[in-house]
Order: sequence, then structure tokens, then C-alpha cells
Amino acid sequence: MSLVLGIETSCDETAAAVVRSGEQVISNVVSSQFAVHKPYGGVVPELASREHLRNIVPVVRAAAEGAGAGRDLAAIDAIAVTQGPGLAGALLVGVSYAKALAFATEKPLIAVNHLEGHIHAVLLQMKQSGGGNLNFPVLALVVSGGHTHLYLASERENHWTYQNVGKTRDDAAGEAFDKVAKLLGLGYPGGPVIDRLSNHGDPHAVRFTFAHMKSPARGEKPPANEAEAGPRFDFSFSGIKTAVLRYVETHAMQAAVEERRHTLLEIAKPTLDDFLRVCDQQTLDLVASFQRAVIDDLAGKTLAAAEAYNVESLFITGGVAANSELRSSFEERGARAGLAVAFPSRPLSTDNAAMIAAAAYPKFLAGEFAPPDFSAEAGLVLR
Ligand code: KG4
Ligand code: ZN
Repeated sequence: MSLVLGIETSCDETAAAVVRSGEQVISNVVSSQFAVHKPYGGVVPELASREHLRNIVPVVRAAAEGAGAGRDLAAIDAIAVTQGPGLAGALLVGVSYAKALAFATEKPLIAVNHLEGHIHAVLLQMKQSGGGNLNFPVLALVVSGGHTHLYLASERENHWTYQNVGKTRDDAAGEAFDKVAKLLGLGYPGGPVIDRLSNHGDPHAVRFTFAHMKSPARGEKPPANEAEAGPRFDFSFSGIKTAVLRYVETHAMQAAVEERRHTLLEIAKPTLDDFLRVCDQQTLDLVASFQRAVIDDLAGKTLAAAEAYNVESLFITGGVAANSELRSSFEERGARAGLAVAFPSRPLSTDNAAMIAAAAYPKFLAGEFAPPDFSAEAGLVLR
């Protein structure tokens, strides 16, 4: 039995957690910066770094105390931290703090890729709920505010490797949710609001179409051996955002959007009723149609990739995986295709540090520790 303390500061959540042997969350603390970034309609990198600096000590302390690990971390076996990808300044706070902590307590330090963390959130959930056997090959869709990536995941003697078989060519799916919510005056973050409002609109009211992505992307060199690289399943979400904007303009909805924005800004924590009160049916239909189109595209391409690569298990993870309609759509389509579909719980879908501690556990067993000179990498690639 080993306790790993995880630390995550890649974007706008300062998080720390203690996880036992990659399978049991002992404590999980997330300090969200929503309120700080809300007036700007998106994450402001400098403010994020400053908030991490303010929150990191109390958050780590709360996670350690919540796990009964003691202020001196006596019961902790290793410290894990998100190395990247993410906002450089935000990552540096977590990495510097984790390095100092590991040095002072003489604990081993493990560097974790944030995307690997999201994938291991699914495994953690499965283990925690006593889930059955995991069948490989596994295809994981990481769908968040920063990523829409498809990975084939494999494991050998506690060493996990990943092959990217698809990614967004422009905006991430969560980014599209956030931008559409912003342009409709619904505030930040957009995903949870659009999720709840979509139940009140007609998803067939507005038709959105997605481009079929040619492989490879324009301007990109084809892989040296196309056959060996295998087919790709890329996404693009900037077009649908523009289509929503055009719909707003051509249907003269701007004045109503501005009024909604002002009304909602004055409410500290708007409830579903508050949102419904400021949205007319046309807006609700637009929101529901947008959500349905994004989910259909995500599910369509992911299921096509699952078939092409003959996978046995599908993992759906990242902030957007908290979406109710996305979950039911993947469950339904997965069942039809005879695939096991697994999600993390909602708190483990959005950014958290339990997933970082869980992803670190196989590395702990394999003795894969971070060298003393390792640093944050904003553009870290998952392999
Ligand atoms: O994984 P995450 O917490 O942070 C990143 O790594 O990006 O994901 C945040 C993203 C945001 O874009 C947010 O709007 C979206 O996840 N999100 C959702 C839902 N909850 C969060 N999108 C759709 N439906 C939701 N229920
Ligand atoms: Zn994330």
C-alpha cells in the first residue's frame, strides 16, 4: 500500500489529492478560480498564476491533513505533479512547489502529463468502484477546455504508452462550449450552463454541419509511413462557433444577448431558473442544437476510430465528459457497437489532482522518477 500526493495547477484549478495505490481517493481538494476569471469570460493566465501561488499551500495542506498524512507528510510515499501541457506560469507554480516539497521531505518526485492524468481518472474510477477487467486495446477520448484528443493506450509492466490517432485542428470542444456561452451572454464556464439549458431546447431546431477532416491536415507533412501510422480522426470546432455567431447576427439576437449578459453578471451564482428566465425559446433551441451537433461529431468520429482500430474499451474523460447528453449518447452508441464505455465520476472528469496521483502510481512502481532539473513544459506531448 502506497500513498501518493498529487498536485495539479495546469489551468484554473489549484488541486491536491492523496490516492492509495492508484485505486482509492483518500482526500481530494480542488480550489476553483471561476470567480476570478468570470468577469473576463475566460482564463487570464497571469491571474491564474497569482491565484495558484495564493492557494497552493492551503490546498496541499488540506489534502495532506484530510488524508491523515500529517503536516510533515510522514505517511506519504511519493509526490506527483503535473508537468504539462497547460499554462506555463500556472504549471511553474505547481512544479516549483512540488520540487521544493520533495526536496524538503526527501520523497521521490514523479512528473505526470495532464492528459495521462485524465486517462487514469477513468482507471481510478473503475478500480474504486470494483469494476471488472480492463480489456485492451483501449481508445481514450480526452475532451476538455484545452484538448480534444484520441489516444490508443497500452500498458506493459507498469509502463503506459499512448498513440495519438486524432486531435482538434483548432478549438477544443470545451473551448467551443465556452465561446458559444460567452457569445450568447451566458457567462463562464460555458459547458455546465449549456448542459443544463439544452434540456429545455429543441436539438433539431438549427442544423449545423461539420467538415470531414482530410488526413493529414493541410500544410502538414504526411507521416513517413502512412500505413504504419494508421487512419486519423481529427476534429474541428471553430466553424460551429462561427456558425452560432452568424445565427445570432442574422436573427437580430444581439440586443437580447447584451441584456442577458448584464442581468447575469449581477447575480453572484445564477441558478437554472435565473438562466431560464433570461433565455427565450430561440436561444434555448440554438443552445440545444449546438450541444447535439458537437456531441454527434465527437461520438461519430470516436466510434469510427474505435472500429478502425478494433478496440475493446472506450474511455471518455476530461471536463466535457461531465456533460449528461454526451454520457448517454456514448453509452447508447457504445452498447450498439458492443464496446465497454467508461467515464470518471463527474468530479474526476474535470481538472483534479487525484487523477495525477493515480497516473503517477505505475511510474512509482516502475521507479520512473523526475530528474532534479526537470521543469514545466507548456506544450508537453503525450506518448
Ligand atoms: O478538464 P477541464 O476541467 O480543464 C481542462 O483541462 O481544460 O475542462 C474544462 C472544460 C471547460 O471548457 C468547461 O466548459 C467544460 O470542460 N465542461 C463542460 C461541462 N463541465 C465542464 N462541457 C460540457 N458539459 C459540461 N457539463
Ligand atoms: Zn484537464
